Amino acid sequence: MTKGVEMTTTIARHIVFLLGILAAMTMFNASSSLAGSEQGKALYEKQCKTCHSVAGEAGKMANMGGALDGVGAKRDDAWLRAYLKDPKSQIEGAKMPKPTLNDEQMNDIVAYLLTLKTPAPAK
Ligand code: HEC
Repeated sequence: MTKGVEMTTTIARHIVFLLGILAAMTMFNASSSLAGSEQGKALYEKQCKTCHSVAGEAGKMANMGGALDGVGAKRDDAWLRAYLKDPKSQIEGAKMPKPTLNDEQMNDIVAYLLTLKTPAPAK
């Protein structure tokens, strides 16, 4: 009888322990992808904002590239990577200059662009 109770307690402890690890892993994952998009946002402000706008916040030459609002819903991860590697590969006669991004910066900027799901309000 006591042995049975002990066993159950031990199993319950193991389950609680495993759930704890699972929760920690989930939290780590969520925060690391968020961190990427935060870095991507900073990168956007440095390298891209001049020619674009997001949520009505426009760079000096935003009329060139236009609004990126909703680009995360319109385009997917693969398209964005291909376009940022070589704009002309995805848009014929693309005017956007090829950005210089290392692998990490590419991941961050794409993570950020994919957060832009809401289209700009119609003018
Ligand atoms: C010199 C101006 C300029 C800069 C700097 C620039 N862009 Fe662009 N961008 C454009 C233009 C112009 C277009 C319109 C399509 C084309 O001609 O390539 C465009 C289009 C895009 C598109 C495609 C939108 C769509 O769905 O059709 C994305 C995504 C994009 N830019 C992201 C970026 C990112 C990210 C950066 C920074 C790394 C950046 N742009 C920097 C000018 C610029």
